[in-house]
Amino acid sequence: RPIRLTDYKAPDFRVSDTKLVFDLHPTETKVTATLTLERIGAAEAPLVLLGERLKLLGVSLDGRALETSDYEVTPETLTIGDVPDRFTLDIAVQINPQDNKTLEGLYMSSGRYCTQCEAEGFRKIVYFPDRPDVLSKFTVTVRAPKAGFPYLLSNGNLIDAGEDGDAHYAIWEDPFFKPSYLFALVAGELDVLEDAFTTASGRKVDLKIYVDTGMRERAAYAMDALKRSMRWDEEVYGLEYDLDLFMIVAVRDFNFGAMENKGLNIFNASLLLADPDTVTDLDYERIESVIAHEYFHNWSGNRVTCRDWFQLCLKEGLTVFRDQGFSADMRGDAVQRIKDVKALRARQFPEDAGPLAHPVRPSSYLKIDNFYTATIYEKGAEIVGMLKTYVGPEVYRKALDHYFQTNDGTAATLEDFLKSFEAVTGEDFAPWLKWYVQAGTPHLSITPSYDAETQRLTLALAQVTHPTPAQANKHPVPIPVRLGLLSEDGAPLTFTIDGETVSDTLFVLREAEAELVLEDVAVAPVVSALRRFSAPVKLTLTELDAHKFARFRGDADPFNRWEAAQSLAKDLILSATGTAAAYAEALRATLADDTLDDAFKALIIGLPTEPDLAQILTPVDPAYIHARRSAFKAELSNALFDDIEALYERFEDERLEAQAPFSPDAKSAGRRALRNALLDLMMASHIDADDARREKLNWRAQYHYQLSHNMTDLMAGLNAVAQLHGEDYDGTLEHFYDMFKTEPLVLDKWFAAQAMCANPETLNRVRRLTQHPDFDARVPNRWRAVVQAFAANNPSVFHDVSGQGYDFIADQILLVDKFNPMTAARLVEVFGGFKRYAEPHASLMKAALERILATPDLSKNVSELAGKALAA
Ligand code: ARG
Ligand code: ZN
Repeated sequence: RPIRLTDYKAPDFRVSDTKLVFDLHPTETKVTATLTLERIGAAEAPLVLLGERLKLLGVSLDGRALETSDYEVTPETLTIGDVPDRFTLDIAVQINPQDNKTLEGLYMSSGRYCTQCEAEGFRKIVYFPDRPDVLSKFTVTVRAPKAGFPYLLSNGNLIDAGEDGDAHYAIWEDPFFKPSYLFALVAGELDVLEDAFTTASGRKVDLKIYVDTGMRERAAYAMDALKRSMRWDEEVYGLEYDLDLFMIVAVRDFNFGAMENKGLNIFNASLLLADPDTVTDLDYERIESVIAHEYFHNWSGNRVTCRDWFQLCLKEGLTVFRDQGFSADMRGDAVQRIKDVKALRARQFPEDAGPLAHPVRPSSYLKIDNFYTATIYEKGAEIVGMLKTYVGPEVYRKALDHYFQTNDGTAATLEDFLKSFEAVTGEDFAPWLKWYVQAGTPHLSITPSYDAETQRLTLALAQVTHPTPAQANKHPVPIPVRLGLLSEDGAPLTFTIDGETVSDTLFVLREAEAELVLEDVAVAPVVSALRRFSAPVKLTLTELDAHKFARFRGDADPFNRWEAAQSLAKDLILSATGTAAAYAEALRATLADDTLDDAFKALIIGLPTEPDLAQILTPVDPAYIHARRSAFKAELSNALFDDIEALYERFEDERLEAQAPFSPDAKSAGRRALRNALLDLMMASHIDADDARREKLNWRAQYHYQLSHNMTDLMAGLNAVAQLHGEDYDGTLEHFYDMFKTEPLVLDKWFAAQAMCANPETLNRVRRLTQHPDFDARVPNRWRAVVQAFAANNPSVFHDVSGQGYDFIADQILLVDKFNPMTAARLVEVFGGFKRYAEPHASLMKAALERILATPDLSKNVSELAGKALAA
């Protein structure tokens, strides 16, 4: 039943040409496909096409209509037994886009037709060899009534258009061979923002971003990000755009972020529309990175695609790495790196440590949609990053040039990717393949010992990866360890290695254990290891707290400076006796350091999250974590209150005086992030506060909320009010609702803010929210705003000892699974780590999973994940 990598078989037929004609109708769309087929496999192999939920209207072979006895139809296939070596096949089917709530294939969103085909959605449109290694040239005719559907879009170039009574049509031709998952079609009423870009070699590209009518201005930031992405890919990777037209369409109903269809990207509107009044700085940042991500796929994904879905990270890991590089160049490397590592640890590390652990290249699956995971995306990106760290930026660029040149127009594998590194270095990269095929986060330990007499520092390094489900035996992987030394007062400390005097070096741990010797170390050093997080591992460094504080105050590597602070905070929060005094002093010094940018300071104010802490405490006790973290944060807030208040006020005055128009640039966003982080930390002192303090906090929160002139500050104000959870809470929510009730994307934030409020009362509130007239479980953005925000971002309430949070989420998964399995399944992972939890949590979570799994007619998506979660 599961699909296995080892069962891969090349296709028996090539489809050199695909002509599609769509007669769009909400409930009875007719699709005809004319396929030019050629046998490339076994002489007697039948033609097997894939198709689901299609009503077959007719098939003809070389113009001759086939009898039903000539072929066999199952719920998933159309098989024609006896076919020549070269032939043309005409297939006509009927589909129902309006009833398609899976949001996969052709469906309707806000009265428009749109598509989502990756990974296996094209088979819901017409019978086809719907697999990524069948590349075809597509010509698409879209026909629809003129009224209501002025725009008819598909991939490539518009080659013809015309009218036909009340209907009209457009014919699109994509000159590039592509797999069916990159097909797209959009038809409906739209506004368009137009611009143009001239590529390095002089091609003029028309850029068009299509949005809901009236929303054109809100596409301006995405357009700007697109042009910057296009330039960046030319400058950094030497890759140019290849068509005369690049289009993006924003839709409200979408299962995930966005999709890189050739020449016609389709975006979740929440990752495209932006203006200061409706989105936050974080949204701007995400929009910029997703625009870049989808654009970069034109090479890493479309020009070079994947041979099969096991190679998904070939395009996703590489493209995430590329978009992270772009964001780092736009917004600063250190801050970007910290954010990327935070995301990796928040989402990928728990996955790798739990029952759903899988290699970056999985070996089997039931539903590939279940594998669009943090492991494939984020760990996949880390592997590319390690390769770059290992070979250096120049050689990396040569390897990537080689990869794109030698694999252009093909469906490639991870081996092909590594071959390019071999080709340009002459070295064997087979050991790196282990990162792709072995699940689990390696644990790296480093034990330094210093000999003052010989001025020699010896570092003992060791790695181990614990067993993961279905993979008991692990092997060492190559781990690039960037490390440097500092003295206890924070100054860089030099040492000698391989005859060179440096203060920073790169060592690759290839075996289970190794020893690294650094000479001429003048004083007992502070070791700063795994700088810039040079490998996605869990590091245990034997060191004194005093050393951590030294790195907190002055590590030359900003990532490790932040890391030292996080690591200290984790220890202090979880050790019941830890106090915040020394930590507060180091933070005070950091906030006063003028060499650091605001965005970095905002990050270092942020304490480890409850899920971060849950990863290092066994068994996990969510209430204890919440209580300890809140108490530590309150202590920190009290210790620094006057400083943070003064700093906050200084920024407040500056803001009020400046009256400058909003700018989403990194520096301005960093300033807002810092001011809002200060506000958040101030609010933490409400625990055990006296009346005067409480009154002050209430007033500050209200004032911040009411005086904000953009969504970033408004949300910070709303969250401050929520943190206090006082008398103002409901009134403020009402005020916000009245202001934005006609803005669905802002209402999503309103729902999410309530679902994430860490007050026990939220348990009832989320249930009430699902009865709200604006709630609609069929709209993934809205559903996620309530349900996912609650389960994933409100741990202390989700894990309420009553088990009610679990019941609620299990109900929601089952509800949505009836019509949108792909989206429902994504939520199963919140129960994944149940075995690590203390009682009664573990039993209650397990019971929720069992209840899900025992439900009749469960989708493959949910049953695969719930089954795995329980079995491991
Ligand atoms: N390729 C898209 C992207 O990452 C995501 C497609 C997600 N598809 C899915 N079935 N989950 O840019
Ligand atoms: Zn992608």
